[in-house]
Amino acid sequence: MVTNILFLWLVSNTPHLAAAATYNVPSSPPSNSSPQLDSTPVGVSLEFFTFPGYMENVTSTMRCLENFKDLTGEWPPVRIGGTTQDRASYDARSSAAVTYSVSNPADAPMTLTYGPRFIDLAATYPGRLIIGFNRRLNNLANTIAAARLAYQKIKNLEAIELGNEPNFFASSDPIAGGSWSGAKDRTSQVQWQQAVASNLSVNNIISAGVVFDTSSYSIANLARAEGGAISTVRNFNSHNYPQWAGTYNLARLMSHSAIASQVNPFKAEAAAAKAVGKEYIMGETNSATQGGGGISPTFGAALWIVDYVAQSTLMGMKALYFHQGTIGNCQYCWWGRYSMGNPYYGAYFITAALAQADKIAPLDNFSTNYGAYAIYKDNKPIRILLINSDYYESGTRGKQSYTLTGLTSSSVTAKRLTGAKATSRQDQEAGATVSGQTFQDGTCKLQGTAADERATVTGGSVTFTLAASEALLVYL
Ligand SMILES: *[C@@H]1O[C@H](CO)[C@@H](O)[C@H](O)[C@H]1NC(C)=O
Ligand SMILES: *[C@@H]1O[C@H](CO)[C@@H](O)[C@H](O)[C@H]1NC(C)=O
Ligand SMILES: *[C@@H]1O[C@H](CO)[C@@H](O)[C@H](O)[C@H]1NC(C)=O
Repeated sequence: MVTNILFLWLVSNTPHLAAAATYNVPSSPPSNSSPQLDSTPVGVSLEFFTFPGYMENVTSTMRCLENFKDLTGEWPPVRIGGTTQDRASYDARSSAAVTYSVSNPADAPMTLTYGPRFIDLAATYPGRLIIGFNRRLNNLANTIAAARLAYQKIKNLEAIELGNEPNFFASSDPIAGGSWSGAKDRTSQVQWQQAVASNLSVNNIISAGVVFDTSSYSIANLARAEGGAISTVRNFNSHNYPQWAGTYNLARLMSHSAIASQVNPFKAEAAAAKAVGKEYIMGETNSATQGGGGISPTFGAALWIVDYVAQSTLMGMKALYFHQGTIGNCQYCWWGRYSMGNPYYGAYFITAALAQADKIAPLDNFSTNYGAYAIYKDNKPIRILLINSDYYESGTRGKQSYTLTGLTSSSVTAKRLTGAKATSRQDQEAGATVSGQTFQDGTCKLQGTAADERATVTGGSVTFTLAASEALLVYL
């Protein structure tokens, strides 16, 4: 069985030098369009202990986020949380934002405290904010104290998380009281939601679930167990890392059809949230677990982000928060103190694709490496997103032509997202480019002038060629 799957994988992944694919662009959103898109579907998640460092010590942070605002008109949503939120205790008397010690600066602390300054710093972020507090240590009063301050001070507070990835809690954790399971987690989540919301005297405040699991700890199971506590819930929150440490495969990460299979389990989760009238988010995600691996800083991971966000918003996900971990020790991070990560280019590109739009619709059936989407505003197509996810590393670079039909304008322009090869990294040999432009190491400033392509539409039809490992955004 395993052999067959592998064999099919290799066959479907062989670069095609195939004939043109033709996509008719529906003049209004087709029945398989997404629900209404959120205005800021691409956000970031900042690991709890290192959030003050991102704000105070990393020049690129605010510029990288503001580049998205330049496209959408709004600051992207931020979530503060992660594994270290469940190692953190609030200390009202501490004058430091965060206090911890590590023997190696590349490590995340096993225990930490944070003071009111941490919340003050969070309150300075001008966009929507989700903040994650501790449940694992079973100190409800401590989490309520922090939640009260956050609710008071953070005017853009969207939601509060109670615990991070409880599917990984151990039976020895204080909250578990000797044993832990999906059923125990649901009872605990509901109790804590009610306690926090009633203390704050507010509803629609909890980001519920926060689980890296779609089976026992699923959103579907939790939504069913909410009962009256559902009024406390603002949204349901899944986590997703498509690849696990030690099993990296960049060709699979970026493949259009492989992404479709990877995100498929989240459709039932999105539907379960919708059935109880709640929003659904991917509250923490990135390419691979544990800070990422060799595939994570690459241009191929940028292409993954483009298609992954497109497919996730298609199923009705409101926003995805891409995790940024330990500063200086984070393969999948979009930026650091000294260098940009190529994945940022993908995040920028899909933010541009979805900016100020209403709906996205697929133009293909996800059976190949070639993806095409139409993006609508006011019921008219405004952009087409094309993806050639054939993996290119060396040798002759394959290409594929995409013919769009049903167009009404006489000419179109396009921005190309490209890189030297799927494996290229800005911190090594080669940065990616968006319409020829780059982001400067250390500042995240957009460099250069856009070199948009222009093509004439003949008889409602236009053809573009995409090299293996490229994406194109066509403005109609
Ligand atoms: C910022 O960096 C300096 C120097 O490395 C360090 O001493 C300080 O603790 C850092 N501050 C934060 C908030 O991370
Ligand atoms: C909320 O929690 C605080 C701190 O634990 C406590 O002092 C206060 O009485 C609680 N208020 C309500 C309304 O439950
Ligand atoms: C999906 O699209 C491919 C090629 O674009 C086509 O060959 C195939 O028949 C389609 N499959 C289905 C189930 O429609």
